[in-house]
Amino acid sequence: MSAFSIAIDNGVAVVTFDLPGEPVNKFSKVVVADFVTVFDQLERDTAVTGAVLISGKPDTFIAGADIDEFLQFTSPADATRESAEGHRLMDRLEHGRVPWVAAIHGACLGGGLEASLACAYRIVSDSPRTVLALPEVQLGLIPGAGGTQRLPRTVGLQVALDMILTGKNVRAKKALQTGLADEMVHPSILRDVAMRRARELGAGKIARHRPHRADAKGALLESNPVGRAVVFRQAREMTMKKSRGHYPALLAALDAVAAGFHGTSAEGFATEARLFGEMAFTAVSRQLIFLFYATTALKKDLGVSGAAPPPLPVSKLGILGTGFMGAGIAAVSAMQGVPVRFKDTALPAVAKGLGAVREVLKDRLHKKQVTKQQFEDQLALVSGTVTYTGFGNVPLLIEAVFEDLAVKHAVLREAEAVLPAGAIVATNTSTIPIRQVASASRDPSRVVGMHFFSPVHKMPLLEVIVTPRTAPEVVVTAVAFGRRLGKTVIVVNDAPGFYVNRILAPYLNEAGTLLDEGARIEAIDQAMLDYGFPVGPVTLLDEVGLDIAGKSGSILAAAFGDRLRPSATLGQVLAAGRLGRKGKQGFYLYDEMGKKGGVDESVYAVTPTGTRRTDVSAAEIQERLSLAMVNEAVRCVEEGILRAPRDGDIGAVFGIGFPPFRGGPLRVVDTLGAAEVVRRLEALNAKHPGRFEPATMLRTMASSGTTFYPKTGKPV
Ligand code: 3HC
Repeated sequence: MSAFSIAIDNGVAVVTFDLPGEPVNKFSKVVVADFVTVFDQLERDTAVTGAVLISGKPDTFIAGADIDEFLQFTSPADATRESAEGHRLMDRLEHGRVPWVAAIHGACLGGGLEASLACAYRIVSDSPRTVLALPEVQLGLIPGAGGTQRLPRTVGLQVALDMILTGKNVRAKKALQTGLADEMVHPSILRDVAMRRARELGAGKIARHRPHRADAKGALLESNPVGRAVVFRQAREMTMKKSRGHYPALLAALDAVAAGFHGTSAEGFATEARLFGEMAFTAVSRQLIFLFYATTALKKDLGVSGAAPPPLPVSKLGILGTGFMGAGIAAVSAMQGVPVRFKDTALPAVAKGLGAVREVLKDRLHKKQVTKQQFEDQLALVSGTVTYTGFGNVPLLIEAVFEDLAVKHAVLREAEAVLPAGAIVATNTSTIPIRQVASASRDPSRVVGMHFFSPVHKMPLLEVIVTPRTAPEVVVTAVAFGRRLGKTVIVVNDAPGFYVNRILAPYLNEAGTLLDEGARIEAIDQAMLDYGFPVGPVTLLDEVGLDIAGKSGSILAAAFGDRLRPSATLGQVLAAGRLGRKGKQGFYLYDEMGKKGGVDESVYAVTPTGTRRTDVSAAEIQERLSLAMVNEAVRCVEEGILRAPRDGDIGAVFGIGFPPFRGGPLRVVDTLGAAEVVRRLEALNAKHPGRFEPATMLRTMASSGTTFYPKTGKPV
């Protein structure tokens, strides 16, 4: 069955792309061959004067090249050949007899956008579903079907570099403003308008090749070689600073774009094809493609094995505790149109919480992500109270009160006296085992953990924690609700620290132990930034709060013994009254507004080695901290805390910022090989007895030569 159907109306061919049996349209080899057949047929049919490319899928125009086929490339040269093949097709699309109009509704990504750029005219539907992007760098690749050449020509160098180097989505209105789209129309008339434009192009009423708009942003700077050199230099510097050189595709993309300006058009395309081939074989690309498959697979996992019951509809959310976390959850829920009843014990706390909700929502207004009306509508969804009025019809309650079991038990009992029968109670605790919270419930099967990360509106992960008693319906409802809030959700089994905090603990402890031994704060943070984390561990301790880190650390030490015992430094610094950023005193200096400065040298006086500091190499710091986390992640697989290695890697990348180009802690094991990880851990354990004993599972994997993920084909 062909992916394309053709309807000819008065000289205009409407070509509908609707890949049978697939949720999205993508360009595989077979589909491309199909398209060539359609293209040739229309070129030969002289009655056809214009063509429209439109999608038959409800929410996607074209999702790009088929990523599955990238896994089958046999060599960089093979990938380069594919890219060059794509160039030939796009060239024919651009310069053939028939002018094409891209009628774009839904996601228009990668190769989909590149095909649209080869069309003579692009119309986007005025819909929030319509987004355009070149996300190849997010897969460790560069655009390979002409994107690095045609996009700068269409929207100018600076807008193009921004899109190519970030892979970010551009909405319809912005596409129109930047010249990426020629026209924006209501989805209901997209097809008709596209046909009209195709006819006008055919009749020469619209020029096929229109010059780049002189009024476009930065056009003047880009109009001469000196200005362009400045743009390229700044982009390169910014890229290096942000990526620390870990993402080769960013520099390759810059080189490909630059080649199109410095040489002939043919040289530009040839450079793109060559670099696309090289990038397809980088280790970074393999890890990023793994993350794509892992996140996609998670979108379908409802968190229960076997047949999943349908999730309960959450028509209203109750939140107890109007602090930072409660307010964050309220704000993201309101963004999704969920009415929120928001309770605390005193009016000033409620007012403060509502203020915090307002701030988060207002930020989106400032960024023009919502209209004033939408902002007001969302704000109106959140109402505050100091009593339990309005909780009688709440199907889901999230408790985000103080981290104290007695307080949690008290509010749970109070709330359950008012909540309807069967209501689900989720606790946002980050430290207390869920079964302990659930023990005070009238029905522990309705209790679940929903561990959000701070700040809630920015952090992409939600960790749902289930006990052996949590009902399947409760699990799927928590997962579905988290997904509705836009979160990537992992489901883990209940144990101290759950998963994310459990693997964070030995990592932060090791940073503290290095401080005990006399390492310098900036050396530790710098080493882990260079490893690829977004913030250093000591900075993170200040951010989390030393009291919180201390409390979580002692819970984990009580559960797992010396291996997870917090450092002496943490205890001493905390005892000296330093709480981190929130107390404007920690390992770093903070000004009155809480803005971070340099290392607070006076903190060394309250560490075991005092002001006497020693040099520790970045390699040693990286090895100790990363392997402490990796080893603990393996234990979480071994103990069944994790349902799949995939969740461990996604949890680390999305919850802690584990470097995406490394794929996650369990991917690190597969990359290095379990035997090598065991060898390195044993060496560390010999120097630091007790903390680096390899997980039993690692030893088993080392002797059997097994890996967490398939060695070939789709990684998940
Ligand atoms: N290749 C292969 N499979 C793809 C795909 C692609 N480009 N895009 C989506 N899929 C698959 C998913 O893996 C999933 O498969 P499954 O059902 O077997 O698990 C299915 O399509 C549905 O995808 P989602 O669950 O992600 O559906 P959503 O509606 O939530 O999202 C989407 C749709 C926004 C299109 C999202 O899938 C997405 O972002 N896709 C990736 C887009 C991308 O990176 N494109 C660039 C490809 S590289 C390229 O084009 C190179 C070129 O320059 C030569």
